[in-house]
Amino acid sequence: MYLRVSVTDRCNLRCTYCLPEDARFAPSRATAEELDRLMAAVCASAPVTKIRLTGGEPTICPSLLQHIRTAAWLVPTVGMTTNGVALERLLPELRNAGLTRLNISLDAADADGFRRAARHDHFMAVLASIRAARRTGFTPLKLNAVATMDTDPAALARLAIAEGAHLRFIELMDIGIAHADWSERHITAEVLRERLASAGLAITEDSDRDEPTSRVWTVDGVDPSATTLGFITTVTNPFCATCDRIRLTSQGRLHTCLFDERGTDLLPLLRAGNLAGLDIAIRRAIGAKAPPLRFQRSGMMAGIGG
Ligand code: 5AD
Ligand code: SF4
Repeated sequence: MYLRVSVTDRCNLRCTYCLPEDARFAPSRATAEELDRLMAAVCASAPVTKIRLTGGEPTICPSLLQHIRTAAWLVPTVGMTTNGVALERLLPELRNAGLTRLNISLDAADADGFRRAARHDHFMAVLASIRAARRTGFTPLKLNAVATMDTDPAALARLAIAEGAHLRFIELMDIGIAHADWSERHITAEVLRERLASAGLAITEDSDRDEPTSRVWTVDGVDPSATTLGFITTVTNPFCATCDRIRLTSQGRLHTCLFDERGTDLLPLLRAGNLAGLDIAIRRAIGAKAPPLRFQRSGMMAGIGG
């Protein structure tokens, strides 16, 4: 299984579909030590082989390195999804702590588009992080773009090709504040591919390269070991049948689906020292993992980390 751990729900950006400009955050419920112990408990009760740290924005979590070390001790593959704003100077430490995979979120290929999407002027910092990440040895490097009607997929694809990174387009989901204008803003993977074609990028489906949650296409004339384009079609073609993800949050809850809003509260069991009860609760939650009744979530995305 693949465990995603949201180490903080705070963020240094305010992407319009994710956080309101004046977002307020509750303090994390679990301490850094408790979150590490919960990670270990989940790995002891379930066959987890990969951990990905997410947020909010994980690089602004003061205990990030500690969580990476814990994760690296528990499983062979440790990844992180970051917006890249504060990443560059952390890269060597992250690598030394045991981070092996890096996904950088980037919704636009230029400074103006970035500001419209993320309400902050950090495009150049993210680009510098992308370049530094490759130099630090984080290859293959993946870029994630949440796609909306405003997305210029060809510009993003050209940036990915120039930077030697793989690019994944994520269909905008009806989650949290994205709900308000979701029907006007969301765009399907199919329309994204039409936009790519009309911008002169010839792409070919390569199902041999498909991943559990994305369909992979190659770009004609581009080395697929350097750059592929992926489409995460949670809206138009969900991947529930092959999904083996579970999620742990800084609130100390285990969610077996992105759309499992309530989750299972693990903290009281941990705090009571009831390790047998914790094991049963984790196994029971995972045993009940099932596709959602509705692909909708009202709680904010930053709390569960995508
Ligand atoms: N739909 C799809 N992806 C989203 N993310 C945040 N909100 C949404 C949404 N409504 C993504 C971000 C980041 C992670 C936190 O989830 O781009 O990768
Ligand atoms: Fe922050 Fe990611 Fe949400 Fe943007 S999408 S505000 S980077 S958590």
